Amino acid sequence: MPRKILVTSALPYANGAIHLGHLVEYIQTDVWVRFQKMRGNECWYVCADDTHGTPIMLRAEKEGITPEALIERVHGEHSRDFAGFHVGFDNYYSTHSPETRACAEDIYGKLKAAGLIEVRTIEQYYDPVKQMFLPDRFIKGECPKCSAKDQYGDNCEVCGAAYTPNELKNPYSAVSGAKPELRNSDHYFFKLSDAKCQAFLRRWTREAGRLQAEASNKMQEWLGAEGENKLTDWDISRDAPYFGFEIPEAPGKYFYVWMDAPIGYMGSFKNLCEKRGLDFNEYFKPDSSTELYHFIGKDILYFHALFWPAELEHAGYRTPTKIFAHGFLTVDGAKMSKSRGTFITAESYLKTGLNPEWLRYYYAAKLNGTMEDIDLNLDDFVARVNSDLVGKYVNIASRCAGFISKKFDGRLGHTDAAWLQPLREAADSIAAAYEDRDFGRALREVMALADAANVVVNDRKPWELAKQDGKEAELHAACSEAIEAFRLLTLYLKPVLPKVAEAVEGFLGIQPLTWTDAIAALPAGHAINAYSHLMTRIDPKQVVALVEANKESLGAVANATPAPAPQKHAEKQENAVAAAAAAAESGPHITIDDFMKVDLRVAKIVDAGHVEGAEKLIRLSLDIGEEKPRQVFAGIKSAYDPAALVGRLTVMVANLAPRKMKFGMSEGMVLAASNADDKNGGLYILSPDSGAQPGMRVK
Ligand code: MSP
Ligand code: ZN
Repeated sequence: MPRKILVTSALPYANGAIHLGHLVEYIQTDVWVRFQKMRGNECWYVCADDTHGTPIMLRAEKEGITPEALIERVHGEHSRDFAGFHVGFDNYYSTHSPETRACAEDIYGKLKAAGLIEVRTIEQYYDPVKQMFLPDRFIKGECPKCSAKDQYGDNCEVCGAAYTPNELKNPYSAVSGAKPELRNSDHYFFKLSDAKCQAFLRRWTREAGRLQAEASNKMQEWLGAEGENKLTDWDISRDAPYFGFEIPEAPGKYFYVWMDAPIGYMGSFKNLCEKRGLDFNEYFKPDSSTELYHFIGKDILYFHALFWPAELEHAGYRTPTKIFAHGFLTVDGAKMSKSRGTFITAESYLKTGLNPEWLRYYYAAKLNGTMEDIDLNLDDFVARVNSDLVGKYVNIASRCAGFISKKFDGRLGHTDAAWLQPLREAADSIAAAYEDRDFGRALREVMALADAANVVVNDRKPWELAKQDGKEAELHAACSEAIEAFRLLTLYLKPVLPKVAEAVEGFLGIQPLTWTDAIAALPAGHAINAYSHLMTRIDPKQVVALVEANKESLGAVANATPAPAPQKHAEKQENAVAAAAAAAESGPHITIDDFMKVDLRVAKIVDAGHVEGAEKLIRLSLDIGEEKPRQVFAGIKSAYDPAALVGRLTVMVANLAPRKMKFGMSEGMVLAASNADDKNGGLYILSPDSGAQPGMRVK
């Protein structure tokens, strides 16, 4: 009997681009889903954009568009990126949908009926300028412990202390910069502290197979010892203005984004059910015999292993069969970094011309079903893909296929040689590794089989047999058997390399491969098509270009303020900065000390005007918290009207040696972005996020 399986990946936020970190998860899930489908199971893979919450509301406002327009645009970008990496969702939807709203209202209503919703008045910071309550992340101030400035409302990035926003010293709103006031407001709570929730979660998180061992241990820590009531009630409401769903019978109150996000899994599936005529209840009723799996990153375990199962259970739905958490991506052993160019977007990877299946293969080879972090080592990436996929796998077909076409009219000979038997019999253990999400083990096994096949091909040397008379039968057998080996390897790699597999199916003239196709060999006389190249090697230069494309470098910024032509001296200075930046770029890294030499400050443009006789310059007065504003001449006239600049915040280099110009002293440099080759306009001065104050150091 085929299994019925519903699979999800976490819903990416609708206010950011998909990057290589995200792709660990979507590729991992996609490989598993493709494997399940190849096994003949009924497997549905749903996802959606996570569209609600304050950051999305503010981002839309900043862009001057509605949240609806923002999430629609991002939906397009995300869908494009996922398709580019062959992530084959059966439905990619949005939490801002009628289905998700209906499910959220339904679950909320049932929790309320079960006595698990409580209204309580809480005291919270309110921004009197922006007229909104502030989420913890939007309140900044001095750390109550170490007094570090500009720390977030929940924890200090300097000393690591965790606290509540009320403990911050000199708090200010990161949205408007205003001093927030404490105000009362009614909030809706999901009563996780209720005895029945605690008892349920204690049991559920320990049930065999629900969670990975590490995750289950974490949960026991969060739940505390038996009898120790460690779980606190969960605040599921937010006050207007908020982008989300209004809570029924609670005007001005909205579901907190994390309340409706997992419900978005249901909403997306419900939408799929409507499109495909599937039975939603069969999958979500309490005693369902279907399976439900959530793939997530380890950072969002709390929401998926505590809140979500507790909600489902007490609203009368089935709970997840298992939660599969993975670790975080590092690049060359470190956190992804914009300055190093390792914060790589999915879009830039594809635009640089790298093959998505290279990354799918590399990630799969590194994934083992645990919560350990995985490292994308860029040198290893090149070496591994070139050696395994091109050197071992593709090599088998590229060395043998031509002879079948040229000498045997495209028809195979016998393919039932004994040496192929182990390749066939590996189907079960490779399947077991995929099922366990130990893709690394699956691929090691596949590559060991590819090695074995290459040994046979090397021994028989079809290219030499082809030159000898009377060796036709041997040549035919050698090539036909190698092609059969290649077919089996393709089958085993298909969850990871769906496009290559599709091309191979075309080349072999066969139906889409499924797991049972491991049993039966291609029959003698089977006609194959002409071989065309399946995969190229990675050129290390492509990886260098990728990192360059993702670098937010000083070089690009320094270039952005072109020296005014007549000022030879100034030109020299600017070139020196550009050269220093370029020199730094030529090696992979600069030290933090090098970087700290540049004193970057948030600057408020208090005045701006044209400069008589200067074609390219605007005179700026910049407040950086000093006694009197600095005067800076910036070559940005082609792109900005001075009047439009007044009042804006930007970033300046404050310790550039002052230089005397025909028009007066220039006491610094403002930062702007541009393309080196864009000679006309195309300049973009930098702005800090709202809340930054003149004089703040940028580092
Ligand atoms: N919107 C929430 C999830 C709601 S699920 C009901 C969210 N979004 S996210 O865009 O921040 O992350 C989406 C998924 O990508 C999460 O599972 C997260 O763990 C994963 N990753 C994001 N960055 C990652 C890495 N650098 N490495 C590996 N996975 C990462 O969280
Ligand atoms: Zn601190």
